Amino acid sequence: MQLFNLLVVVVVASAQNINNGGSSNFTNVGTNSTTNTTYSNPIMTLNVGDPWMTRYQSNGEGWYLFTYSTNDNVTLKRSQSLTDDWDHAEERVVFNPDPDSGLPYATDLWAPEIHNISGTWYIIFSATPDHDAPPPLQDAMCPFECPAVNHRMFVLQGDGPDPWTSNFTMKGMLNTFDQFAIDGTYFQYNDQLYHIYSCWENTYSAWPANLCITQLSDPWTVVSNLTDRRMISVPNEPWEQVPYGRAGRLATNEGPEQLVNPTTGQNFVLYSAARVNTPFYCIGMLELVGNDPMQYQSWKKHTDGCVFHQNTQAGVYGTGHASYTTSPDGSEEYIVYHALTTPNPPCKDLS
Ligand SMILES: *[C@@H]1O[C@H](CO)[C@@H](O)[C@H](O)[C@H]1NC(C)=O
Ligand SMILES: *[C@@H]1O[C@H](CO)[C@@H](O)[C@H](O)[C@H]1NC(C)=O
Ligand SMILES: *[C@@H]1O[C@H](CO)[C@@H](O)[C@H](O)[C@H]1NC(C)=O
Ligand SMILES: *[C@@H]1O[C@H](CO)[C@@H](O)[C@H](O)[C@H]1NC(C)=O
Ligand SMILES: *[C@@H]1O[C@H](CO)[C@@H](O)[C@H](O)[C@H]1NC(C)=O
Ligand SMILES: *[C@@H]1O[C@H](CO)[C@@H](O)[C@H](O)[C@H]1NC(C)=O
Ligand SMILES: *[C@@H]1O[C@H](CO)[C@@H](O)[C@H](O)[C@H]1NC(C)=O
Repeated sequence: MQLFNLLVVVVVASAQNINNGGSSNFTNVGTNSTTNTTYSNPIMTLNVGDPWMTRYQSNGEGWYLFTYSTNDNVTLKRSQSLTDDWDHAEERVVFNPDPDSGLPYATDLWAPEIHNISGTWYIIFSATPDHDAPPPLQDAMCPFECPAVNHRMFVLQGDGPDPWTSNFTMKGMLNTFDQFAIDGTYFQYNDQLYHIYSCWENTYSAWPANLCITQLSDPWTVVSNLTDRRMISVPNEPWEQVPYGRAGRLATNEGPEQLVNPTTGQNFVLYSAARVNTPFYCIGMLELVGNDPMQYQSWKKHTDGCVFHQNTQAGVYGTGHASYTTSPDGSEEYIVYHALTTPNPPCKDLS
């Protein structure tokens, strides 16, 4: 979920190095020749959330491609170095809706992701027509306030192989049965495509926010009906609930991302747990342990707690909504996440 005025930074960290064959070449990830340090954090200080980093090739050169929540539009940034100064990296606005149009994707654009699916580029993001200010009668339907009740998922399609020169056009809304949907991502398994997103159980349940899965026939067409939609994770562990251990209001699972172990082929969904604007926002993990992602029994939650969380000594709090990438040569794994620089961010509504 998007957050603002919370002193958010985007941070990169070395994830588990899956190839332990001693092939690391840190020159490739931005060693500072004066200090010999590999990189310095944060890599972005623009006070934005939901970082998404991926890679693409153009004319034989490798690029990092980045997007994040601007709230108003979909903006891409790129650099050849993961550890570049991303505040000033070159950027391109690829989708800029009129906020007063009343279109279902007009306002509060959150958590865009750009995916290369079989050579075509798709941008998936959530947005709402109403600045997260639903009419009072609709707002009153929820047990607590529900500003994001009209957030839905949308898909843009690029018209060329190179994401930096492609133009993106609206392909449509991903069917979430006219229910709350944010932070959607693609999950690919056995040549099938799925949509995993943060959902409510019912139209007006508000909290908890869970993870739902539906099956797609192409990147913009959902083939599951509501009966077949599955909730594959609910925030039922104490560390997914803030205040700690309180089920219901503000208990949250969101920001799901697929991560595949290239050595073992294991499929994981890393997701953000707990409340976004608190120091306890962290990353939890599901593993696909069955063959059918559409069965909730196929998913096993790592119940021992967050797999990635705040570090009070380092002054990094609320670590969440991550994406995953590699060094240019593919030998090193990196996590790119947002974090708070204070455990007590100023009070702010999330609209
Ligand atoms: C590391 O990569 C850099 C840049 O590609 C290259 O110049 C250097 O020779 C490499 N070093 C080693 C030890 O492979
Ligand atoms: C390398 O580190 C030094 C000392 O912190 C700093 O002055 C310099 O700007 C850094 N160089 C780069 C390319 O980041
Ligand atoms: C950086 O590493 C090089 C090669 O190992 C070494 O010669 C140099 O003294 C180091 N510099 C610093 C500032 O540690
Ligand atoms: C997109 O992915 C395909 C593989 O599906 C790959 O061949 C192609 O190089 C990728 N496009 C870019 C621009 O990196
Ligand atoms: C896109 O949104 C950002 C953040 O609000 C803003 O700085 C930028 O001017 C916008 N770009 C366009 C073309 O509207
Ligand atoms: C994208 O649109 C611009 C402006 O309409 C146009 O100049 C450009 O050729 C288009 N790019 C592609 C790849 O079609
Ligand atoms: C949902 O789709 C399944 C097939 O996947 C079908 O068996 C079922 O009848 C459908 N349910 C409804 C309510 O349409």
